Amino acid sequence: MAELGHEVVGIDVDAAKIALLSEGRAPFYEPGLPEILTSAIASGRLRFSTELADARGAAVHFVAVGTPQRRGENAADLTYVDAAIAALIPHLSDGDLVAGKSTVPVGTAARLSELVAAGSGAILAWNPEFLREGFAVKDTISPDRLVYGVPAGEAGIRAKELLDEVYASALLNDTPVVVTDYATAELVKASANAFLATKISFINAMAEIAEVTGADVTQLADAIGFDARIGRRFLNAGVGFGGGCLPKDIRAFIARAEELGRGESVAFLKEVDGINLRRRDRVVDLVVDSLGGEVYQKRIAVLGLAFKPDSDDVRDSPALDVAVRLHGLGAQVVASDPQAIENSRSLHPQLTFAEDHLAAIEGADVVVIVTEWKQFRELTPELAAAAKGRVLIDGRNCVDAVAWRAAGWTYRGLGRP
Ligand code: UDX
Repeated sequence: MAELGHEVVGIDVDAAKIALLSEGRAPFYEPGLPEILTSAIASGRLRFSTELADARGAAVHFVAVGTPQRRGENAADLTYVDAAIAALIPHLSDGDLVAGKSTVPVGTAARLSELVAAGSGAILAWNPEFLREGFAVKDTISPDRLVYGVPAGEAGIRAKELLDEVYASALLNDTPVVVTDYATAELVKASANAFLATKISFINAMAEIAEVTGADVTQLADAIGFDARIGRRFLNAGVGFGGGCLPKDIRAFIARAEELGRGESVAFLKEVDGINLRRRDRVVDLVVDSLGGEVYQKRIAVLGLAFKPDSDDVRDSPALDVAVRLHGLGAQVVASDPQAIENSRSLHPQLTFAEDHLAAIEGADVVVIVTEWKQFRELTPELAAAAKGRVLIDGRNCVDAVAWRAAGWTYRGLGRP
């Protein structure tokens, strides 16, 4: 927002995070973020604070706190959103806009708008966020669409005007805008992530069928992807989706639909979740199988811990899960990731990590790729020569099977012969 020319104060209750940000250091890995952070701070338009009172005087208040999965349940935990809104209300002025960015169950904005209206003269809008990790800066500066969920009447007109001002530069570039009601805006986000998750699980289901028929799911994806109605993106079969969004968002959607008495409408998302989780079993099974069932004390190089490349995020990461499970089976796992070792170590200190992926491979009986970082996609049999075994399990179907086989390796991908 500061990069777009606005004057911004970023507020969080986490003092350590605020201290880091104030020094221009990002609390997580995101390509391009440190640069933009430094330039925004230097411009004088961006500062950070732990005091909500510093929100006073702002015209627009974005609420972008997390909505994690509730422990032991499918539903989203709204504690942080509720707390942020409640704490913000005393600092709001008449005509201010509160813009919700957090991913919330449908119905939340309507409930919160009553609280905001009762406690202040401010207006609430719901403005879902669609950025992808690894592309967060680009997706924020030039989003592919904007969705404004606004109240009816004058308040809605005012909300739209304010959001148009906020996003003026994107609007100049003809970014499509959908102005709608709260429920639709909330559902756009839930359904977008449900659709993406479904697309991935669809191709992973095809991978399961390919595995019992000898077909090749990557060629199948290419072939169906040429149909413009289907499209090739998000059709990469592999160890499945993870992260802080897709898994918990489809579960929260299931929970919310059930509350609304429409559980059957999204019951298929349980299958989507189930197919996705089965892919992790499949990768573990392939490793076990390649060792003739004898995993104990075998050395396994796990390449990848983050849920996707260009991120240090290990929330619900299939890669980290595979590493943990193989360790649980008694294997000597050595895991490597360009960015996610620190986060993985704090969750699973029992694992052994190697900063250098080639060091992880040294002496390994099996090499497993579970996150398609560039350096892992570019791995070759020559680079992996220090491995003891000659088995590569490609959990992301991201290397050239022909080349590895030609070099004498046993190559196993997902959904590939
Ligand atoms: C997602 C949505 O894309 C984004 O719009 C929303 O705002 C937040 O959630 P993100 O979590 O950053 O973004 O990751 P995304 O790129 O969607 O990937 C999610 C997972 O799906 C990753 O684990 C990725 O490895 C996996 N994936 C993706 C596949 O397994 N196959 C694919 O073809 C694509």
